[in-house]
Amino acid sequence: MTGGAGYIGSHTVVELLAAGHEAVVFDNLVNSSPLAVDAVRRIANREVRLVRGDIADADGLDAVLGGAGFDAVIHFAALKAVAQSVADPLRYYRNNVAGTATLLDRMAAHGVKTIVFSSSAAVYGNPRTVPITEDEPTEPQSPYARSKVMVEDLLRDLDAADPTWRISVLRYFNAVGAHPSGHLGEDPVGTPANLLPYVAQVAMGRRDFVPVFGDDYATADGTGVRDYLHVCDLARGHLLALEHLAAGPRFTVHNLGTGLGSSVYDVIHAFERACGRALPTRVVARRTGDIVVSIADPERARTDFGWQPAHDLDACCRDLWRWCQTHPNGFGD
Ligand code: UD1
Repeated sequence: MTGGAGYIGSHTVVELLAAGHEAVVFDNLVNSSPLAVDAVRRIANREVRLVRGDIADADGLDAVLGGAGFDAVIHFAALKAVAQSVADPLRYYRNNVAGTATLLDRMAAHGVKTIVFSSSAAVYGNPRTVPITEDEPTEPQSPYARSKVMVEDLLRDLDAADPTWRISVLRYFNAVGAHPSGHLGEDPVGTPANLLPYVAQVAMGRRDFVPVFGDDYATADGTGVRDYLHVCDLARGHLLALEHLAAGPRFTVHNLGTGLGSSVYDVIHAFERACGRALPTRVVARRTGDIVVSIADPERARTDFGWQPAHDLDACCRDLWRWCQTHPNGFGD
């Protein structure tokens, strides 16, 4: 599993182990911590091998892929900060696109031809209609989002060229929350770019107020609407997608989202319920490049492999708050 020490990757290792699979984590630890893998071991009560390596390093990949007989690779490893991708696009294309091409090349060389790829709702850009089905045309708005579309295209070409590949593309909506054990969660480096980690830091007293990026959008309360899903639900989706691939399809694309939209204020109020205190907010300018509404149509994942989210936004906030209380400085504690 590439990127298995990261936020979504580490939660997915927990799900895989709980289902009786074995996993090797391959991660360069640039945006993640080996302590996340320790937490996984603790939750699963199982040993998990962590290999420090980069997907751009063919020799490092060969060393791992040549060992255990892998059935599949779940490929999370990527850079994901939108603003950073605008400032440094080459880094994004090198890591996310060229790195994935190297990974696929080495997988093929070792006869491992099943992959689950972490794509993003960002590939849709500003959708024409919501909820968004997988048939919505892609219209990426940033180098980050374009890097995801490019890999999707690469995978489609690979399928056309070699029918022995089994490929699942998962388009994530907004992953939030933490493992209910309180041992595993998101540990953003520096100022959080995403809403829920920021709200959590306000609740912990580390920041003064939540900046609301515009309240004059054409939505019910004027703020941006997103489809927030619990990271454990998202993690389970990978397991089901893998099982679905084993049943035969060659190339699949699925949205993973709840189908429900929440505004910025809905999120803040849910977190207030979880932490038991009012959180100060301040309306500030819109964030450049933000879309207005993003809500998944998750029907295909439900029909094809029975995936349904089990947690609502309140549960996401409760689990995130538990993680904040047990680990106020992330894995640094
Ligand atoms: C962002 C990325 C997306 C990426 C996803 C996961 C952009 C434009 N999109 O999604 O490509 O896949 O993160 O990493 O960056 N908000 C505030 N105050 C804040 C933070 C956010 O009001 O301090 C608002 C935003 O305007 C938005 C909503 O909260 O309406 C959610 O924002 P965020 O958590 O950053 O997620 P996305 O923008 O959906």
